[in-house]
Amino acid sequence: MRRAIYPGSFDPVTNGHLDIIERGCKLFDEIIIAILVHPDKKPMFTIEERVEMLEQLTGEINKGACVLRVDNFQGLLVKYAVEREAQTIVRGIRAISDYEYELQMALMNRRLEPRIETVFMMPHEDYSYVSSRIVKEVFGLGGAIDGLVPAFVMERMKRKSNGV
Ligand code: PNS
Repeated sequence: MRRAIYPGSFDPVTNGHLDIIERGCKLFDEIIIAILVHPDKKPMFTIEERVEMLEQLTGEINKGACVLRVDNFQGLLVKYAVEREAQTIVRGIRAISDYEYELQMALMNRRLEPRIETVFMMPHEDYSYVSSRIVKEVFGLGGAIDGLVPAFVMERMKRKSNGV
């Protein structure tokens, strides 16, 4: 049973995240999408909202025989991965600029827990510039973000900005 953890903030989930999950499904029997509970950050969506959106979207993607679960975690990622009996951490790398930070995290995680391997995956080039942060910024300033997040997520962002 090849089980991977795909960790992140997912605030909100983008089409780039979903693309990585679909690609990961070709490599793993099970992927746990693990949302970090970040006590100091002021997120756009609560953990419960992010879990709900990811659960809906993972039901719609092309996953073959792969089992997708959505969870949240606090504290050290490698500790969580061992608790969940995963062998691998999946991270998406969009551009070379991501690599430095991701390499640092991967090597630190390997030092902390040599049994866990990190696998870097490249999203489709259409999403190579897409991040939750830039999507929120453009949306907040009234710019178009269609095609970068699922329509359902965009709807939820609109409701959020209207205070619903
Ligand atoms: O999507 P993000 O916000 O870039 O994800 C970052 C994440 C959640 C992968 C990273 O912050 C993380 O693993 N945090 C958990 C705490 C931890 O283990 N820190 C040490 C990493 S070397």
